[in-house]
Amino acid sequence: MWWRDAVLYQVYPRSFADGDGDGIGDLAGLASHLDHLAWLGVDVVWLSPVYPSPQDDNGYDISDYQDIDPAFGTLAEFDALLAALHGRGMRLVMDLVVNHTSDEHPWFTAARSSPDSPYRDWYWWRPPRAGLTAGEPGAEPTNWESVFSGPAWELDEASGEYYLHLFSRKQPDLNWENPQVRAAIHSMMRWWLDRGVDGFRMDVINFISKDPGLPDAQVAAGASYGDGSLAFLNGPRIHEYLAEIHREVFAGRPQAVLTVGEMPGVTVEDARLFTDPARAEVDMVFQFEHTSLDQGDTKWDVRPFVLQDLKKSLGRWQEGLAEVGWNSLYWGNHDQPRVVSRYGDDGEHRTRSAKALATLLHLHRGTPYVYQGEEIGMRNATFAGIEDFRDLESLNHYAEAVGRGEDPDAVLAALRLMSRDNARTPIPWDASQRAGFTTGTPWIGINPDFAEVNVAAERADEGSVLHHYRRLVALRHQEPAVVHGDFTMLLPEDEQVYAFTRRHGDVELLVLVNVSGQEVAVEVPDEEAWSRSRLVLGTVDDADGSAWTPALRPWEARVHRRLVTVG
Ligand code: GLC
Repeated sequence: MWWRDAVLYQVYPRSFADGDGDGIGDLAGLASHLDHLAWLGVDVVWLSPVYPSPQDDNGYDISDYQDIDPAFGTLAEFDALLAALHGRGMRLVMDLVVNHTSDEHPWFTAARSSPDSPYRDWYWWRPPRAGLTAGEPGAEPTNWESVFSGPAWELDEASGEYYLHLFSRKQPDLNWENPQVRAAIHSMMRWWLDRGVDGFRMDVINFISKDPGLPDAQVAAGASYGDGSLAFLNGPRIHEYLAEIHREVFAGRPQAVLTVGEMPGVTVEDARLFTDPARAEVDMVFQFEHTSLDQGDTKWDVRPFVLQDLKKSLGRWQEGLAEVGWNSLYWGNHDQPRVVSRYGDDGEHRTRSAKALATLLHLHRGTPYVYQGEEIGMRNATFAGIEDFRDLESLNHYAEAVGRGEDPDAVLAALRLMSRDNARTPIPWDASQRAGFTTGTPWIGINPDFAEVNVAAERADEGSVLHHYRRLVALRHQEPAVVHGDFTMLLPEDEQVYAFTRRHGDVELLVLVNVSGQEVAVEVPDEEAWSRSRLVLGTVDDADGSAWTPALRPWEARVHRRLVTVG
């Protein structure tokens, strides 16, 4: 279980670095920045999709699973990148998007060509609702809403039938009930492993098994559609499908592979089953509970975030997976706003709060993920109008909400906080023109703060967020208690301080994080003993290797270490 010691780094290739001047990041750009990843010390790169794609959902709509999109490069460049990563002792995990394909994938174009096509049953086709005519409002086979607004069904005029798309209409859902679909996917996965990749991050993998009855869902008061997730979230055959993938694809492989299941809505109890090594399904899950704490009924209904809720949530996951199973630890990815703007303070305390949140997360039990740009404390974007946004989720939501009569300024205000585009602005490599990201016109606006927040500037500054991330990665590699230690939450009701211990053998770590802009006093159990402990990591630049102070400065985080007598 090598991946327990590892730190993953997610690359969203479109926004990482552009090697050919077309304004879109690519493999050449990524290959030219491997020094950055090696310097940071990360072990594994998770690469968001680079496969041929119409780019309706920035590559999460795949039209060919076994090639590279020309916008990103070629298979030869991919092979060279993989070899270069391996040469530096890093591994590469691919994004596996198999709940759906693009509607331009040959499987789907064949399926759409005729109800008699042998590929028809590879997707979910249904006639209009009984008693209604195709195309009439409400004639969709179920009342489900798509994740990206509007109905989850699209009418195929030629045949008069609808196909299911839980995401955009250009992302038709594959029918995993069909054994040919599963066999084709297994064979594609083996092809990538044979090429040398080290595993897969499996996109919305707990959506692949659907209740074939496709029942209607409850419709909440005032809503136009229902939430169909009861019929597809952790569906009836999900464990069987994952175990089958494991058997058909991973078992007996010479290389040590990693499998990560992205699982919206997964509970701790489900996660324990999915990640129990004895069941051989996936190595770890990506769960979303802690990224919903600032949301009401929908992600656009933004609420203030309460620290005790975060402790409750993360604490429950620590406890639930303490004996069996494993979790991913993350604040950000290409779907989440920037954490320093969300749970930190991206004004006066940007640097301190980014370091504090990083320390809090990386010292939990689990495998930490760094999403590109998080390691320099990137802020949310500052988009003025809807024309600055690119993400279909944001654009669809805006059109729908404004169409329904909501105030456009209020809709925009929520997008500025929650849009996925916040995480998709280009990586500012330096303070030069276009932040060293591209020589062309970037596909999405560069964050205007790039003269201050960029990789070169932070590399030159020992007190930067970037240097702190490097220390956190190194600490995990040096201190077994970070990886293996038991977790105990302290001060669960404290409104400002997040505190816990990790205990492994005779080593105990105490993690103290001030999640506020005020100085606070801390009262930890056993303070007398901790006052003689060693400070192994601090976030405020004058922290001294032996100091114990009963107060935490604004957004200060500290990791103390002591030896305890076993017995
Ligand atoms: C996952 C991806 C997201 C994508 C969706 C559909 O949640 O992370 O970016 O839009 O699946 O593939």
